[in-house]
Amino acid sequence: MIGRTLDWFEDFVAGGGMADAADTARLELKRQHCLLVMAEARDQARELGLTPRLVDLATVAGLVHDTGRFPQYRRYRTFRDADSANHAVLGLQALARQGGLGHLAPRDRLLVRLAVVAHNRRALPRRLAAGGDAEALVLAHIVRDADKLDIVRVMRDHFQAKGAKDEVVFLGLPDDPERYNPAVVADIEAGRIGNYNDMESVNDFALLLLSWINDMYHPRTRRLFFARGHVDALFGQLPDTPAMRAFAGRYRERFGPEAP
Ligand SMILES: [Fe+2]
Repeated sequence: MIGRTLDWFEDFVAGGGMADAADTARLELKRQHCLLVMAEARDQARELGLTPRLVDLATVAGLVHDTGRFPQYRRYRTFRDADSANHAVLGLQALARQGGLGHLAPRDRLLVRLAVVAHNRRALPRRLAAGGDAEALVLAHIVRDADKLDIVRVMRDHFQAKGAKDEVVFLGLPDDPERYNPAVVADIEAGRIGNYNDMESVNDFALLLLSWINDMYHPRTRRLFFARGHVDALFGQLPDTPAMRAFAGRYRERFGPEAP
């Protein structure tokens, strides 16, 4: 099943190539992200002991979850949905128009489409969260977690890259080493995820990523968030002040591997 989706995906991405080197690099990052979310979703599905069919569907959904990023960037030259269009919806349109899920049974296609549309919502759509469709819910949780874990990897690479921050990746936010918005810290402490509207500087992006711990559904995701060094790396980007050090301590105590 995944072989056919992969062939489709690679053709789809190759067919939307762009001439400019910076554009090509950004699209390649998204392609890599899709492949890694695919692997992450598959591993999570296996760890949950799901049936082979659901493992396959999680793998497919992980791969195609960001299909919409490619038409989004070509059309609008941004990955910011607020300035363009919801990339999950763009992805569903592209998948439907170009037959990306054509080889799946109708029920399986629906499950993948639901996972795609739910992947970038701030919270799960209420009807999905109600759990009446257990298969849809399990797939949506897997893709959302796999996506978060890999976005953190991508962003960490960007934070640590030498030179000026890519303004498309950092949404044009100013890179002021001392500045951060305490509202995002307050969100984390209150058990919420941060709000994109509260992002005022590059540091707030690091805090936003740290806030996702509150929306990681599977223990494996939280475990890997720490074990892969993402938490340390993100705190390493933030100002070294007493307030921030105290916050980092509370964060590790509450969410880290030693947490009760
Ligand atoms: Fe996405």
